[in-house]
Amino acid sequence: MKSIHVKASTHSYDVTIGKNIRFDLSKHVPLDQYSSVFVITDETVHDRYGESFVQSITHDRVHTAIIPSGEQSKSIDQYYELLTKALSYGTDRKGLIIAFGGGVVGDIAGFVAATLLRGIDYIQVPTTILAHDSSVGGKVAINHPLGKNLIGHFYAPKAVIYDVDLLKSLPVHEIRSGYTELIKEALIDDPILFEQMIEHSLSSKSAEDFIPFIQRGIEIKKRIVEEDERESGVRAYLNLGHTLGHAIEAHAGYGKITHGEAVAIGLIFCMYVSEQQFSIHLPTKKLYQWFVKNEYPIQLNEADIENYISGMKKDKKVQQNRIYMVLLETVGKPVSVGFTTTQLTALLTEFIKEMHTWEQEG
Ligand SMILES: NC(=O)c1ccc[n+]([C@@H]2O[C@H](COP(=O)([O-])OP(=O)(O)OC[C@H]3O[C@@H](n4cnc5c(N)ncnc54)[C@H](O)[C@@H]3O)[C@@H](O)[C@H]2O)c1
Ligand SMILES: [Zn+2]
Repeated sequence: MKSIHVKASTHSYDVTIGKNIRFDLSKHVPLDQYSSVFVITDETVHDRYGESFVQSITHDRVHTAIIPSGEQSKSIDQYYELLTKALSYGTDRKGLIIAFGGGVVGDIAGFVAATLLRGIDYIQVPTTILAHDSSVGGKVAINHPLGKNLIGHFYAPKAVIYDVDLLKSLPVHEIRSGYTELIKEALIDDPILFEQMIEHSLSSKSAEDFIPFIQRGIEIKKRIVEEDERESGVRAYLNLGHTLGHAIEAHAGYGKITHGEAVAIGLIFCMYVSEQQFSIHLPTKKLYQWFVKNEYPIQLNEADIENYISGMKKDKKVQQNRIYMVLLETVGKPVSVGFTTTQLTALLTEFIKEMHTWEQEG
């Protein structure tokens, strides 16, 4: 078991990582100080783990809400329904919310906690690799039909209990998705970690093998969010790969390709652009080949370039008609650079050609 201490502007909290620690909540959270406990989870997680988890919570007022699995649950309707449930169960300002699930549950449960009765405590019990990212740093949100995560808040949890035992049931595309965010963190901060991460294939790893990478990923994210909680500076580096990644995700239609699989293509693109911009060599092709070997859907179509560019223009980092992307001066040294639409179109066109060459080379 390992604990990482994170300082938010409002309070500090521990992220504890270990096996089967979800059953020892009271060791990490003063449950007896809360008037009630409201567990928010999704159908998939509830079917596999819900009953034993809820039974293990040592409190006499525990209620559970189960939302449908998937991104569509981060909706205003679902949010409202959760508020109604919490209120009808008699939740008061001393109530505790537990987000038991992946990033979707974490984001919506966190937003319910942030707004219910002007804010009550919540803890994160993440169940996906990707949720190592969403459960740390206090960003909580739901989606608006006009875009993802447009309604939200910065609202840090009181604790994060990361039980790696839960990862054993993750489908392979979800493992790929979360692992990309870990690779992203290594690219931002730690060249040696990056090399270690792509040394072996994903299929050779057990749930426990992810522990050191998840731990390092959380440490890197902690360092960045402590420096810039509200994303006015360095926190934007965590968006490495996300400008194109989000555009790919939106164009494919959410749910068709996982978030991390789309970001994987975005990471390769950022590395390719960095090489052009700074006349340097990065392990771009090496990472591309690792993604392909691990069956990531790394493909882009020339016919869709315009769609990707207009998707990137919707990015929150657009300023004075320039689309800002995080690049790497070297692995471990991120920097933000602005591009015009014309420049980006040319770069994306060249990049797709380059990927075709790599495909043929095998
Ligand atoms: N707040 C942040 O800082 C932040 C950061 C990154 C991502 N996010 C958000 O996170 C969300 C994506 O998170 P995600 O990838 O965890 O998605 P998710 O919560 O939808 O989980 C993915 C799928 O895996 C299932 N699942 C969850 N745990 C499982 C388990 N242990 N075994 C088997 N199946 C399991 C879920 O039911 C779901 O179908 C997005 O909405 C994104 O916006 C937020
Ligand atoms: Zn992401």
